[in-house]
Amino acid sequence: MKAKIIGTGSYAPSTVLTNKDLEQKIDTSDKWIVERTGVRERRIAAKDTATSDLALKAAQRALNAADVSPSEVDLIIVGTTTPDMFFPSTACLVLNRLGATRAAAFDLSAACSGFIYALSVGEQYILSGKYKKVLVIGADLMSRIVNWTDRSTAVLFGDGAGAVLLAPVSGKHGILSTHIHSDGSLWDLIAVPGGGSADPPSEQVLVEKRNTVKMKGSETFKAAVRTLEEVARETLSANGVTVNDLAHIVPHQANIRIIKAVAERLDIDIDKVVVNLSRYGNTSAASIPLALDEAVRDGNIKENDLILLLAFGSGLTWGSALIRW
Ligand code: UT7
Repeated sequence: MKAKIIGTGSYAPSTVLTNKDLEQKIDTSDKWIVERTGVRERRIAAKDTATSDLALKAAQRALNAADVSPSEVDLIIVGTTTPDMFFPSTACLVLNRLGATRAAAFDLSAACSGFIYALSVGEQYILSGKYKKVLVIGADLMSRIVNWTDRSTAVLFGDGAGAVLLAPVSGKHGILSTHIHSDGSLWDLIAVPGGGSADPPSEQVLVEKRNTVKMKGSETFKAAVRTLEEVARETLSANGVTVNDLAHIVPHQANIRIIKAVAERLDIDIDKVVVNLSRYGNTSAASIPLALDEAVRDGNIKENDLILLLAFGSGLTWGSALIRW
């Protein structure tokens, strides 16, 4: 038995913030951003929108695609680093508005790797036989935790959500394996250090913007390339397949230079890599399911395709999933 993705969905707010718009706000240029990151524009949520609003829409689309009603869902896991509030979980808020009356729900914190971590947990619930329908969502509203005066991070991120519905199947299709890893010694490469229990909200936290993303860019870049390559090799070897067997790679959409460096090290044809970061920026936990859903809806993913998902994020956390579609 395997856990299979039987429906995908995604949602991004309609408001577009282009690099040209950013040129008006901070000391940056469209040229620098495109050359150094590949991002051309990102979506920004309206003031009255929360992470659960994006997650809900992505979830509804995934359920529609699978033709499954909310009342059939057993479990909802939301990978997010920007929950609506400290508690209750964003997953409980989504559950309520979705009308998933018999489901259990919880959030999972693994930053940009949140979706792959959540997928791995959801897979285990299916494999154990405990649940038959698990909704896995990656959703983040990074615009709320970005320091809009810090050009080295402000240009990178965007808002979005993606979701998949998992169900048990027998046969060769479905998730072949998931792999997750963490290295807490590198926690401070990318973090939002203030506003939590270690450094509770105060005027000083706000003045010094410690409640926003702090990142050591080039160290994060190197760690991303190293860990993504490692976990890709681990996944291929665990399944006895090679890069030539892959039809698509869906990596975390942080920076086109990270994606190209990983593809080059693995000798992967860049045309096999699903890339949409020029339109969305880094949407954190949403990036992989958003890119996957677009590829599915564009008709680029065919039955039997072998697909490698690769995630990397704060923690550090990283992980992968190999899927026979
Ligand atoms: O989701 C996972 C977490 N995030 C990531 O994976 C991001 C990983 N890191 C990166 O993607 C890259 O390190 C960045 C895109 C953040 C930065 O690119 P870089 O090539 O590492 O640039 P840098 O930080 O070494 O900065 C080079 C120069 C600096 O100027 P000086 O010191 O050489 O005069 C920066 O001040 O570029 C400057 N710079 C900018 N210039 C224009 C930094 N940000 C900007 C900007 N516009 N937005």
